[in-house]
Amino acid sequence: MSEVVGYELKGRVAVLTIDNPPVNALGIAVREGLVTQLDRAVADEGVNAIVILGAGRTFPAGADIREFDQPTREPHLIAVVDHLDSVEKPVVAAIHGTALGGGLELTLGCHFRVAAPGARMGMPEVNLGIFPGAAGTQRLPRVAGLDHALELIVLGKPIGAAKAKKYGIVDAIIDGDLRGGAVAFAEKVVADGTLRAISSEPCDGIGLSEDHAATIEKYRDLANRRMRGQDSPHQAMDSVIDGLTMPYPDAVAVDRKRFELCKNSVQSQALRYAFFAERKASKIPDIGKDVAPREIASAGVIGAGTMGRGIVISLADSGFPVTVVETSQESVDNGMVEIVKTYDEMIQRGRIDAVEKDKRLARITGAVGFEALNDVDLVIEAAFEDLDVKKQIFGELDSIAKPGAILASNTSYMDIDALAAATSRPEDVIGLHYFVPANAMRLLEVVRPAKASPDAIATGMSLAKKTGKIGVLARVCHGFIANRSRLPLVREATFLVEEGASPAQVDAVLMGVGMPMGPLAVSDLSGLDVSWRMRQSLANQHDPEERYMHLADRMCELGRFGIKAGQGWYNYEDGGRRPVHDPVTEVIAMEVAKEHGTVRRDISDDEIRERCLYAAINEGAKILDEGIAARASDIDVMWLYGFGFPRWSGGIMFTADEIGLGKIYQRIKELHAEHGKLWTPSPLLVRLAKECGSFTR
Ligand code: 3HC
Repeated sequence: MSEVVGYELKGRVAVLTIDNPPVNALGIAVREGLVTQLDRAVADEGVNAIVILGAGRTFPAGADIREFDQPTREPHLIAVVDHLDSVEKPVVAAIHGTALGGGLELTLGCHFRVAAPGARMGMPEVNLGIFPGAAGTQRLPRVAGLDHALELIVLGKPIGAAKAKKYGIVDAIIDGDLRGGAVAFAEKVVADGTLRAISSEPCDGIGLSEDHAATIEKYRDLANRRMRGQDSPHQAMDSVIDGLTMPYPDAVAVDRKRFELCKNSVQSQALRYAFFAERKASKIPDIGKDVAPREIASAGVIGAGTMGRGIVISLADSGFPVTVVETSQESVDNGMVEIVKTYDEMIQRGRIDAVEKDKRLARITGAVGFEALNDVDLVIEAAFEDLDVKKQIFGELDSIAKPGAILASNTSYMDIDALAAATSRPEDVIGLHYFVPANAMRLLEVVRPAKASPDAIATGMSLAKKTGKIGVLARVCHGFIANRSRLPLVREATFLVEEGASPAQVDAVLMGVGMPMGPLAVSDLSGLDVSWRMRQSLANQHDPEERYMHLADRMCELGRFGIKAGQGWYNYEDGGRRPVHDPVTEVIAMEVAKEHGTVRRDISDDEIRERCLYAAINEGAKILDEGIAARASDIDVMWLYGFGFPRWSGGIMFTADEIGLGKIYQRIKELHAEHGKLWTPSPLLVRLAKECGSFTR
């Protein structure tokens, strides 16, 4: 008897319970167990109906993704699903938790589906670079209609039980005891002689009508806009079309091959890598689960500027009472006005209603002076990026904050060890580096100064989770993981403009690798003066052997700060935000090139791609080698969530492995010879290239 699928009789109903923690994934043991127990129920003359449910927290959340890298073992999930609907006794799926992907496909093989009110159902396979491969693309349109099926299959977002009922996916919602309710449902089906619903059978909705073609077009368009560059939504739609136009067994046979191709594609490998990378990021090698985070019942934020306000909103949105502190009442008031504006925008977009706005605002208190922070459990400093100012703030906080409070800095690049040293309690000091806008961006870089206590770090990571963010840990260095690894890309982008490329060419090439915006358009958006100030603060540390960003400085000296100035790398006519080619940029680039002896020339797209990406990869390798990042995948998670690098690329380190470290090293050696010290190859890259190794595998 199988251990992972239990068998129990409730009167004349056999209850099959899938018990494969943590999410009851449909690995080989579950598939075998299901077939065995199903056959047992079929053979048992005392059984006249079957219920399938999941033990623990959920119905199966899908196929076991870890098995995708191994040869598939029989029985395939699709065979289990087909077997289910051929059973001549009614089979009822009882859904709680999340029936996702193969989990939902399993229920489509059952003749009836009932669900707990809180259950969620979906087909998130596209997010893994595949599509529902156990006949979901054939069966779901027959059950829910094409439009609803495509909503689930193409967009990959789960829906709740009530919507699933409306879509016809669920036959009944069962309040209270799901198991008992499902058994009663099965008994009633038998008593009423209700015909078994077989979702592989032809139905009225099959065939490619004009309406169907228009619906498919609608989803192709949505996929192009929301998942630019990703193949799987289109493969999913092709598979759905097969299901509409071919008899079920033929469509399934064609799609088996399509599914294998998708599963083996680089995009799918990258997306699966990203899935596990994001979960791994929360695990800190030397801080075990036994280290409990400190309790955070209230928080304070210093500074009501753009960043501070975003942090305040993020905390308030997640239920934390938060005090925002400024130096004057006027600044507090201005900050509150902007916070209210953000909530009003959320209402306009339909994300919250007025009642919710009031609830969230009620959690926010404005105050002048640090005294207001004397009783909070967490303080996040989001003041101006000036080390002396920040040191002074931390010194003052030390005398005001209550014992055990976490003192965090939101600095994006400064030495947090120095801030910790300005207090008598360095064990309580950490970095919490948010990304703009802090209330919307999902990445939180948790920075670990040398003396931070493990529970302070655990608190930072837990705060990320509680506020719906992905926390990734970094050690202290200039720019930590995110900004340090991105700077070389921006640096090369500006050098390339100095050497003859146009901003539009550079940005187009990087958007061509899937980035949502080019780096120069991003600089215009965030303001060129931000990194200018940083370069100025580090002027005395500049190594004369390293090429300097003269052109970026010149743009700032000329007041070309980007969108807010109406001009930067691009021109922004009439106060708009759309970047327009500006011939003046070329003139400035020519002048700077002449002053610094830079030879201007035609620059190929390949050179732009290689220099920008390889510079970031080389820095990523240094960050990894120095132990700033615990693992290569943490760097990738930063790029996916912090910089919108396409998830289907896996991130820069995964991309590097795909290209091949030997090839990258060779090119970096050439660039080093040509452009000097900034291109010094990372020792780790050199070693891995020689060993034919990789960063992520
Ligand atoms: N296969 C293998 N492991 C899985 C898994 C899966 N389908 N889903 C989750 N896990 C693992 C996670 O890696 C994690 O492992 P860890 O503890 O070692 O890090 C553990 O289960 C718990 O997962 P989460 O931390 O994500 O737990 P949450 O409670 O936050 O979320 C969830 C639960 C909503 C189920 C989320 O894990 C999820 O979205 N899982 C993926 C669902 C999915 O994509 N299903 C489709 C799979 S592909 C498929 O079915 C193909 C079919 O069409 C043939």
